[in-house]
Parts: sequence; structure tokens; C-alpha cells
Amino acid sequence: MADLNAFMHNQEKKTVDASRKLRIGIIGTGWIAGAHIESYKRQPDVEVVAGADLIPGKAAAFFAKYGVEGVKTDYANDEELIADKSLNLDAVSICTYNRQHAPCAIHALDAGLNVLLEKPFTVTLDEAVEVMRAEKRSGKVISIGFQPRLDANMQKIKEIVQSGVLGDIYYIQTGGGRRRGIPTPFGTTFIEDETAGLGALGDIGCYSLDMVLNAIGYPKPLTVTGYVSDFFGKNPKYNGEDAKRFSVDDFGAAFVRLEGDIILDFRISWAMHPNTPGDTLILGKEGALRIPSTDCWNGSVGGPMTLYYQCAGQSVQTTLPIMESKDLWKSKIGSFIKAIREGGPSPVPSSQIIKNQAIIDGIMRSAKLGREVEIHIPEI
Ligand SMILES: NC(=O)c1ccc[n+]([C@@H]2O[C@H](COP(=O)([O-])OP(=O)(O)OC[C@H]3O[C@@H](n4cnc5c(N)ncnc54)[C@H](O)[C@@H]3O)[C@@H](O)[C@H]2O)c1
Repeated sequence: MADLNAFMHNQEKKTVDASRKLRIGIIGTGWIAGAHIESYKRQPDVEVVAGADLIPGKAAAFFAKYGVEGVKTDYANDEELIADKSLNLDAVSICTYNRQHAPCAIHALDAGLNVLLEKPFTVTLDEAVEVMRAEKRSGKVISIGFQPRLDANMQKIKEIVQSGVLGDIYYIQTGGGRRRGIPTPFGTTFIEDETAGLGALGDIGCYSLDMVLNAIGYPKPLTVTGYVSDFFGKNPKYNGEDAKRFSVDDFGAAFVRLEGDIILDFRISWAMHPNTPGDTLILGKEGALRIPSTDCWNGSVGGPMTLYYQCAGQSVQTTLPIMESKDLWKSKIGSFIKAIREGGPSPVPSSQIIKNQAIIDGIMRSAKLGREVEIHIPEI
């Protein structure tokens, strides 16, 4: 298959005049939009000039809450905001629920805007392909909101793997879990198929996949045998009144074959009886890395990592102390702004995350069919 990223190398670099402030719009002013606005406020070379939400009055109340004045909010949806040429926007943050990621991203890219799109990339692989085609048409930057990979400990995982100390990687066990962690305190858009499309897989599964796939250079996924269930979400004993509306996965597991003879053994859970489904293990022919999980999986390294290898005829191990985490949101927004100013590259490129999405899509298809499925990512 051709390099998914090839079209990006052919694009002319479109830099932005460094002396003017970048003009940003926020689409979807719910919970996570709060983290975006707080970070934009701390960027001296940026102004947030517009916001839209489907719920009337929500965007205006949002900017009032965060103390940002003079923002235009009289839009019924993303399309109205994007169509307002008087805004002279450079970029939008798309903070909608998952089902609205692809349409909003395509609208924005086709209008010539740079896009910071919240994770998961999309709900289906087909949607991700369509977003990448819009990216290709527009020549603009799209970055997907995977801030955990900006953490120093996550970056250390990649550095260790890429250093070659583990040798060729042949097996990875990853994922994470929570005993009770269905995210409903902020509303129900995470648990209803109509808005979320994906449950634990799209919320936190994509982070576990990114942690290891980014470290090993995002090889192409080939086949997947997947399983999903909803035993906790749908049961009022564990999920109270929300059980009636629960219509996504709360648990997923998969066995994935990756290019390069690498096996990926994955599991993710919003709710289950134990506290964790196990640590992440990266096994190589020369060494291995154990990455402790957190009790309530949130996409971060849960404790000191252990590096195992052979030295002078002995099996030895080294513990890597946890490094202090920097402000991931500052890095997430800052790296996006830098990419707009410099005309790329994208800090978290679609060409990588489409493979993450392809695995999630494969898990859903395989679970439905009850058998292994092949993964095919079309040409962009
Ligand atoms: N990166 C992270 O750490 C992180 C954390 C939480 C959530 N998220 C992601 O952020 C997204 C939003 O999560 P949330 O908790 O803020 O959800 P939310 O339901 O609180 O907010 C989403 C908002 O988008 C609005 N919306 C939907 N479609 C729209 C459209 N076409 N035009 C304008 N507004 C529209 C909805 O009305 C809603 O107010 C999800 O995809 C989630 O996975 C990321």
C-alpha cells in the first residue's frame, strides 16, 4: 500500500504571517471544550472569535463561564459558523460528540480551515477515510486530540522501543480498565449510540492503542478478531437509570495481527469486577518493557516502568522512575498552533490515527460477525 501520508509531502507549505493573531472557532461547547478554551486563553498569539453548539444558548453561556468576551455565538450548528466569512477563521477546535466528528471535520477542511479534532478520530474507518480525503483536498493541517502521547513517560516508551534495545518486537499486550468508570457525570452523550457510536473502545481504547502503536511506528493492521460487550452499562445494578439509555460497548477485546509479524493483544473496559486487566507488555527479541496500568485507566503510565534484558549472560532489569508530567493541554494546543503557523507537519497526523481507527472498526465488525476480519485501508 502506498504511504498514506504521501500527499502531505507534495503539499506546498503555507505559513501564516507571524505578526498577526490566529483566529479560532470552537465547535461543540460541552465538557472538553473547557480544556480547549483554557489553553487558547494562555496562547498570546491566538484569539477565539466564535463558537457554535446545537443547543441554543449553550455556546454563549460557555464563553461567559470562561470569561471570554466578544465571541460570536449566534450559530445553530457547525455549518453556520464555518460559512460566516466575516470571521476570517484560521482554524476550529472540534469538540463535538463522536458521531459529529467526521461531518464537522469535513465541513471545516472543505472551507479551508485547519482542524484540531477531538479523539476518537471518527466512529468508523469509512468516515476517517472521508476526513483524510477532505484533508487532501484542502491542504490544511488536521491534528487528532491524543494529548497522552505528549506526556514525557509516553515519549520515553517510544524512545526505548526506537533505540532498538528491545530488538524486533513480536508481541504486545495492552489496554486498561476501570472497576466502575462509565463516564456519565457530564451527561449521556458518551453512552448513547446516536451520539457516541463507540463506548469504551472510542473513549479510552484508542489511547491504549496509540500508546503502543505510536511507540512501534504505527505498522499496518492486517486482521482482527474482536469482541465487545455491554453487561455493566445495560444493568441497572451497576449503571442505575442510565442503563436504559446505554447503547454502546463497555468492554472490548481483540487479537490483532500487525505488519512485521507483530501480535497485539488488547482489552479495554469502562466497568468490570477487577481493578485492571493487566499491565502493558512490549516483548522484543532482545528485551521487554512492562508499563504499569492505572487502576482507573485514563491513558497515562501508572507507575515506574521496568525494562528487562540480557547482560553479560544474566537476566537483568532496570526500573525507570516516573517523570513529572508537563502540561499536556498546553502542548496539545501549542503544537497545533505551531503547525498552522508553519504549514505543518501535523503533531498527531491522520495518517497514523487512521490505523488506530481501522483496528477499532475491525473490532466492531468482527464482534458483529463473530469471526476474524481483514483490515483494508483504502487509498486516500
Ligand atoms: N482529549 C480528551 O482528554 C477528551 C476528554 C473528554 C472528551 N473528549 C472527546 O471530546 C468529545 C466531546 O466530549 P464532551 O464530553 O465535551 O461531550 P459533550 O456532550 O459535553 O459536548 C459535545 C457538544 O457538542 C455539541 N455538538 C454536537 N454536534 C454539533 C454540531 N454539528 N455543531 C455544533 N455543536 C455540536 C453538542 O450539542 C454538545 O454540547 C468526544 O468526542 C470525546 O471523546 C476528549
